[in-house]
Amino acid sequence: MLNWIIKSHFKTTTESDTFSRSVESYQKTLSSDEIGFFRLPQSRELLKKCDKIFQTFNDKKYFIHIGIGGSSLGPEMLLSSLGIRTDVKFIFINNIDPDDLNRKLEQVDLKKAIVYVVSKSGTTAETVAAMSIIVDKLKKLGIQEDQFKDFFVFCTDPQTGELRKISKLWDIKTLEIPSNVGGRYSVLTPVGMFPSLFAGINVLSILQGAESIQKHLYDKKAAKDFFELAFWIKELHEQKVLQTVMMPYSSLLKEYSSWFVQLWAESLGKEGKGLTPIPAFGATDQHSQMQLFMEGPNDKILMIIEVEKFHTDFALKNDLKSDSFQNLSPFKLSELMKAELEGTLTALQENNRHVVHLKIPSLTEEFLGQLILFAECLTVMVGELLNVNPFNQPGVEAGKKYANSWLKANCK
Ligand code: PA5
Repeated sequence: MLNWIIKSHFKTTTESDTFSRSVESYQKTLSSDEIGFFRLPQSRELLKKCDKIFQTFNDKKYFIHIGIGGSSLGPEMLLSSLGIRTDVKFIFINNIDPDDLNRKLEQVDLKKAIVYVVSKSGTTAETVAAMSIIVDKLKKLGIQEDQFKDFFVFCTDPQTGELRKISKLWDIKTLEIPSNVGGRYSVLTPVGMFPSLFAGINVLSILQGAESIQKHLYDKKAAKDFFELAFWIKELHEQKVLQTVMMPYSSLLKEYSSWFVQLWAESLGKEGKGLTPIPAFGATDQHSQMQLFMEGPNDKILMIIEVEKFHTDFALKNDLKSDSFQNLSPFKLSELMKAELEGTLTALQENNRHVVHLKIPSLTEEFLGQLILFAECLTVMVGELLNVNPFNQPGVEAGKKYANSWLKANCK
């Protein structure tokens, strides 16, 4: 089971009225009908629907995922952490850089591809642009609109939006993102489920993992350590500790950091408050950002994730006549990772840094499911304590509005 320990000289007491009120408000939020992400671990119906459509398209050789923000970061994390299938090539179109898009499309035989278009709103310009380019390419290959149902699957709001309308027009199989689940909380919906099935990931185990930690993160008594963690983060925020480093010691969890960045930044950064997330991964970033984390301004919380057991390992045994090589010879590669992690934890503590040491037994569906729900719930609880709404993104909307005005003003 996922567990976490705070390692910091900074102590808090949770015996306050504000704390109790925030816990109650958090519990109310999670059980309200307007907020759906917390109940997703039980959503087996959505998985069944994904599976049915997956069976239809299972022979495809390329999976093109079009989406941005919450409509892409979750599946990117799942696939890079757990994906095992090598006979399907995955392409994420998550930006509007023409050169990047061109490079990606050059690798694809569109006739053998499934194109998964994900947009909750169905109106996001970046996603619409990428889809229109693919439509154009398919038409140039001689594929008519009445054949599009063999190439596209959509994922969008159950009722509203442009994608819904187009899905009816072209008879496209369409999966739903429940109306009460926002983009960055949607990884456990068909947004993440459908691509995961193509990647050979056991989605049910992810849901079961999330389910196993769900009760714990809700229950006032059982989750005392969880609420204390959130309160500690809030108190440090008041002390101007305004940055959060997410640093798994695992290359395969690198995208977990990227996914967390969006969740943390977009949910908590508003009304002059927030904690700037910094993505990192060990041991690589020990040779990059760690100098700053260790001796720079003491304004960061470092969330260090340890994977206790790797699936594979390598002996470092060698007969090279060199101290550097011989020092490592009795060990395995995973033991060197452990040494690097433990060494860094000790040094961070000696430098009075604020550390949370998270551990998962291994990188499996079950434990990634736990890490996902943990981060989502922590975000909501910290939102309660900072008194911000973790489910909106008015700042993002403002940028979109001005981009649209620019397009209108420059219309040819
Ligand atoms: O978390 C969010 O709500 C956003 O990051 C959205 O996921 C992102 O803007 C994409 O929106 P949509 O899914 O409507 O295309």
